[in-house]
Amino acid sequence: MAHGSAIAIVLAAGKGERMQSTTTPKVLHEVAGRALVHWPVVLAHEVGVRRVIVVVGHGHADVEAALARRFGDAAPEIALQQQQRGTGDAVACAVARLADGPDNARVLILSGDVPLLRASTLHALFSCTGPLAFIATRAPDPTGYGRVVRDADGRVLRIVEHKDATPAERALDEVNAGIYAADLGFLRRELHGLSAANAQGELYLTDLVARAAAAAPVATVLAPFVEVAGVNDRVELAASDALARRRIAERWMRAGVTLRAPDSIAIDADVIEIGADTLLGAGVALRGRTRIGSGVTIDVGCVLTDTVVEDGAILRPYTIATSAKIGPRSVVGPFAHLRQGSELGEAVHVGNFVETKKTRLGRGAKANHLSYLGDAEIGARVNVGAGTITCNYDGVAKHVTVIEEGAFIGSNTALVAPVRVGQGATVGAGTTVTRDVPAGALVVSRAEEKQIAGYAARKANAKPKSR
Ligand code: UD1
Ligand code: CA
Repeated sequence: MAHGSAIAIVLAAGKGERMQSTTTPKVLHEVAGRALVHWPVVLAHEVGVRRVIVVVGHGHADVEAALARRFGDAAPEIALQQQQRGTGDAVACAVARLADGPDNARVLILSGDVPLLRASTLHALFSCTGPLAFIATRAPDPTGYGRVVRDADGRVLRIVEHKDATPAERALDEVNAGIYAADLGFLRRELHGLSAANAQGELYLTDLVARAAAAAPVATVLAPFVEVAGVNDRVELAASDALARRRIAERWMRAGVTLRAPDSIAIDADVIEIGADTLLGAGVALRGRTRIGSGVTIDVGCVLTDTVVEDGAILRPYTIATSAKIGPRSVVGPFAHLRQGSELGEAVHVGNFVETKKTRLGRGAKANHLSYLGDAEIGARVNVGAGTITCNYDGVAKHVTVIEEGAFIGSNTALVAPVRVGQGATVGAGTTVTRDVPAGALVVSRAEEKQIAGYAARKANAKPKSR
């Protein structure tokens, strides 16, 4: 089911006092690596809603920038609510941008602090008719929520906010989840009639329920509490995070991925793909827009961010990779550090304590031990010896090292960039290369080696120094 003509409004202007943050607006705190405000936007797109408007207020510049970064060309529209005068006012700010929309357009109202809502629940809400419908839930502790008040026949009469409720109303455990579907025409007619004469002095969106109920029956969709639980403090943030991660882990396991100790593995919501028969060891973290092929082994403690790993690669324990590409059947780690712009071709070996940055290694190239390779272009089948360093920085600018196909770099080599080692050339161990090496040549730079025979005996016979 797609809802191409529908519009979604995401309420995200609130400060979120209870997060106790001095730097971060509430909706930019993350659940499974994805900002709270991004969740309803992704969900709206998922159910086929093309036009999304996010109402921002507190920290609006940061929120807008985060949305632009995450969604690019598909970023939602922004409606600025200057003062947080309540949820009714927030929706009015978005509706003000919809002058061109037809009265019968369906408007979904989502909350920027409810990350775990499922698409199936939203579809159920969509199929409700009437001027307004909403999602209700049974809260284990309904304190703080708006209560759903029904008549003797079970028809919805209104929603009463906790602070305005009588003791009898507070005893109700059916509460408003804060997610609605309404006709645009209904919102246009009724929103400006809201009053702030209530316990919080706010314009309550929830007051629309009584108005809708006066005209036609108000339908509700009853959702499990965990799905619609809001995130208001960092305890609830952690609970939502754990739940989201469990859901994500189960989804990948069902898709053919083996997770060892799944509760210790953190797969972000925005991870794009993990192929079948891939294995994730305990403590692995897959972050951002990472993509993993099939038959890949990612062993204990690896942390991959915005990284692509192709089929059959093996990542040994504690490999760290950020904005990197690892080619098919490559073997990396343990304890390798691939920084941004590292691109490993097919069957490349990068071993322990090797750091790479903006470096490409061609097919079959090897750098097995203790090296720094930065701003380098390394050809196929090159062997980089232990302790090789590309000296890419002269204190002012970065320079490129090129090592052509089949070259052999001896251990403990310093390559002072910009420099090029020609195809098939050999660099002797301990060399400091400062000039381009022609193809096929040998380059060695060492102080002459001296041998002093009998040194140990001479030392033993020497008189102790008097003091
Ligand atoms: C709201 C509902 C309550 C429901 C609960 C579910 C109202 C009056 N009450 O209460 O019935 O049980 O959600 O979680 O709607 N926001 C704005 N601008 C504002 C005020 C709020 O954008 O001026 C945003 C907030 O950032 C938040 C959402 O609207 O994302 C809900 O606001 P919040 O203050 O959390 O409402 P609740 O008191 O939780
Ligand atoms: Ca809330």
